[in-house]
Amino acid sequence: MTADVNTIRQRLAAYGQEHVLRWWHELDEARRACLLEQLESIDLDLLCRLCQEAPASFPSGRVEPAPVTRLADSFEAWQEAEEAADLGETSLRGGEVAILMVAGGQGTRLGHAGPKGTFPIGPVTQRSLFQIHCQKVLALSRRYQQPLPLCIMTSPDNDAATREFFAEHNNFGLEPGQVRFFVQGTMPVVDAKSKKLLLADKGQLALSPNGHGGVVEALARAGLMDQLRSQGVRRFFYFQVDNPLVKVADPVFLGQHLKRRAEMSLKVVAKTVPEERLGVVVRRDDRLHVIEYSDLPEEWARRRDRSGRLQFWAGSIAIHVFELEFLDRLARTSALPYHRALKCVPYVNERGELVRPTQANAIKFERFVFDALPLAERALVLETDRRQEFEPLKNPSGENSPDTVRQALSNLYADWLQAAGTIVPLTPTGDSLFPIEIAPLFACDAEELRGKRGVPAKVTGPLVLE
Ligand code: UTP
Repeated sequence: MTADVNTIRQRLAAYGQEHVLRWWHELDEARRACLLEQLESIDLDLLCRLCQEAPASFPSGRVEPAPVTRLADSFEAWQEAEEAADLGETSLRGGEVAILMVAGGQGTRLGHAGPKGTFPIGPVTQRSLFQIHCQKVLALSRRYQQPLPLCIMTSPDNDAATREFFAEHNNFGLEPGQVRFFVQGTMPVVDAKSKKLLLADKGQLALSPNGHGGVVEALARAGLMDQLRSQGVRRFFYFQVDNPLVKVADPVFLGQHLKRRAEMSLKVVAKTVPEERLGVVVRRDDRLHVIEYSDLPEEWARRRDRSGRLQFWAGSIAIHVFELEFLDRLARTSALPYHRALKCVPYVNERGELVRPTQANAIKFERFVFDALPLAERALVLETDRRQEFEPLKNPSGENSPDTVRQALSNLYADWLQAAGTIVPLTPTGDSLFPIEIAPLFACDAEELRGKRGVPAKVTGPLVLE
């Protein structure tokens, strides 16, 4: 039942936040009801604590590089990877793996109108990020004769548009019921100086998605942990919508995770330069942590070992395996911390005018999924090759932009084609000269491509295989 406005006013006053009811007398019934609902759902106690706490800093204690299972560079390592692949495939065939894609957030940097997943990224066909991911899931479901459940986290802002996009495209061929959407939570935004709640308009708090770490509680709240558990799912393969290179449900990764009996696993790539914006995996007091690039002191980021390599080299690329029971435990204990981010957020001022600041004026609170790492009893960190698995879409131009992502996709497919014996023209820096696209339903990896008919002997222009 909705509390009355006076009770809420008192509660707000106890935290010095009653200003959010300043325009109450101007609101109609519907807007009043919405505002009350928003106010009832926020945890003022938590917010007050988060505002008072000192921002998270680089961890103290003995910090050293994390132990990483390196790329298979010997016969033994290759043999181990083969064994792991068998284990991973058995888990996939047995219906123990669900695919978990986070597609919430705001995509502020990219500035695309619509959910990030709808961005047309295919180097030749312009197929969307969602289409690429879904067709991988479809191809793998066929390969393992098991409809892999696909759980997609949206944000309140992009949920409706995401569902519409999937409906328009007939779920990209996935079975009805195979795709499950769930919406992430939000957190109120506060003024950076006064720590007062901001209003997006006179009858609405400014809220922002609570970070990709919100996935843990959102999954539980949507009842998906229980549903999937009863269906026999034991673990999640997690990735983020903006990286179309991800090797979805990689059986070697799943198998290594199983062999280690890990609760959480993550893939890393070698950072190219100290300032690269990747979280770095470290070990502190026998626990692994991912330190956000912005929290890693510059001196640490630049530190090199005797051979000249970066000492803290292992950059997390946001590809994980999580045991379902581990995530469930984290959800029940609300275990992930919140981080603060200073951002520009429009708000309504005390005169009722909408202000669009040009400098950071507000604090957003976000949870990061990689903060689960130190909470895992056993964890695996696996190195992978960046060219094969990682180029996320973040910006409209420059690094991690549509151009670099399309080039990375073409390069990946060029490598597969070369492995299949095709002659592929490359630039002096190793980039594919022509845009190339291989639909996941044609081949999901280099090995599958090798056995296919219709693979050309030479690439002579833009190429699509589907
Ligand atoms: P980013 O941290 O790059 O955020 O998210 P973003 O919202 O996509 O873009 P910016 O920072 O506003 O420019 C990495 C991945 O995590 C998901 C995004 O969909 C993306 O796949 N994410 C992020 C969420 O699902 N929820 C969030 O609250 C934040």
